[in-house]
Amino acid sequence: MRLVMIGAGYVGLVSGACFADFGHIVTCVDKDESKIKRLEAGVMPIYEPGLDELVASNVRAGRLFFSADGADAIRQADAVFIAVGTPSRRGDGHADMSYVYAAAEEIAGYLEGFTVIVTKSTVPVGTGDEVEAIIRRTRPDAEFAVVSNPEFLREGAAIEDFKRPDRIVVGVEDDRARATMQEIYRPLNLNESPILYVGRRTSELIKYAANAFLAMKITYINEIADLCEVVGADVQQVARGIGLDKRIGSKFLHAGPGYGGSCFPKDTLALIRTAAEAGSPIKLIEATVAVNTQRKKDMAVRVSDAAEGNLAGKKVAVLGLTFKPNTDDMRDAPSLDIVPALQHMGADIHVYDPEGRHEAEKLLPGVTFCDGPYEAAEGAHALTILTEWDQFRALDLRRLREVMAAPLIVDLRNIYRPAEMAAAGFRYHSIGRGVS
Ligand SMILES: NC(=O)c1ccc[n+]([C@@H]2O[C@H](COP(=O)([O-])OP(=O)(O)OC[C@H]3O[C@@H](n4cnc5c(N)ncnc54)[C@H](O)[C@@H]3O)[C@@H](O)[C@H]2O)c1
Repeated sequence: MRLVMIGAGYVGLVSGACFADFGHIVTCVDKDESKIKRLEAGVMPIYEPGLDELVASNVRAGRLFFSADGADAIRQADAVFIAVGTPSRRGDGHADMSYVYAAAEEIAGYLEGFTVIVTKSTVPVGTGDEVEAIIRRTRPDAEFAVVSNPEFLREGAAIEDFKRPDRIVVGVEDDRARATMQEIYRPLNLNESPILYVGRRTSELIKYAANAFLAMKITYINEIADLCEVVGADVQQVARGIGLDKRIGSKFLHAGPGYGGSCFPKDTLALIRTAAEAGSPIKLIEATVAVNTQRKKDMAVRVSDAAEGNLAGKKVAVLGLTFKPNTDDMRDAPSLDIVPALQHMGADIHVYDPEGRHEAEKLLPGVTFCDGPYEAAEGAHALTILTEWDQFRALDLRRLREVMAAPLIVDLRNIYRPAEMAAAGFRYHSIGRGVS
């Protein structure tokens, strides 16, 4: 199959490289020419484990191409995937659809022969109808069908997720388009990945319903963690105790500083908006958003409280800035709330993040960026762990103790055992487990 990905970001580039690896001929198109230039030079515009090798091997095999202009590739394509951003519209939380609609119009101009237009971006219910209308208006003569195929990959494990998905959801109402989608995903039949064929609107809603549920699950365990602190229980044991129940499941039960990232914050807001406009509000998700927003604000207060309420003029080391490990993605990361709040309290912030620095430097003014955890910790009165990168899981505690001005650690990801920290001479605060 000849495929085109419109948008070579976290989703478009990973999906495109994986489709090429399945054996399809793929062109990734991005209007950001600097991104295309970097890709052509073999430099990845994002950090995603394994992506550079996957891209390089498929470019070498003559299956993966990059272009700032999709005209030729779209003319020859069996399917064109729209994988552009759908950020929150400022002010009302609705998904900003301008990129998707612009892409639809551009694609329409070049269509030749029957082509399937696949929306991979996360889009509100009814977007497929609108994309169809745009293309029909622009090119009344075109032969095409619009399909919804939301993406469920996780940054940091994106390639594995794409190649071994829990499920593939395809919202399709046209037989020829369905046959094309079957052919595109045929290589995954070998893994027995379930493919769910549903109506287009159902498919669009599945994506939001899934993300909002996961955001709610995280928020639930965060509130249980707060209760644990008050009543003297241990949230990790509670999480294990409930997670072993197969109806609940153990994933997404890690208490922390609140969810962030490029998807959950905007997708929960967009679902709330869709539901409100449809006259069928989803109060659970409204509460989830409110609780999570407050939680991120509360995290800086935790650090300050641990330091006896006085951070003025104190040096605070921060380990991890990205919204989760193994990505450089800083979109809506909790650190973007926590670090400025700490600065507002007068703290002098020294940070280290293995991959996030490039993006974070643009977003966090007045912060000192360091080249390693011990450099960040040098002379610090407190150290806080915001992202659970593997390299923070086995810090040399003795060395840390020696370089810090005061032995205080606030671990917002619960990656250490309280007893271990106490033995190393630290005052250790974590989430939902009391203080040691
Ligand atoms: N990032 C994730 O983990 C993830 C997971 C599942 C779904 N999604 C969804 O996938 C979509 C894309 O997300 P992302 O994280 O890959 O975004 P991104 O910002 O990393 O990438 C989008 C890319 O599209 C390009 N673009 C925008 N308009 C274009 C146009 N008209 N022609 C060509 N290129 C264009 C941009 O330059 C950018 O490079 C969103 O709807 C998101 O919600 C993201």
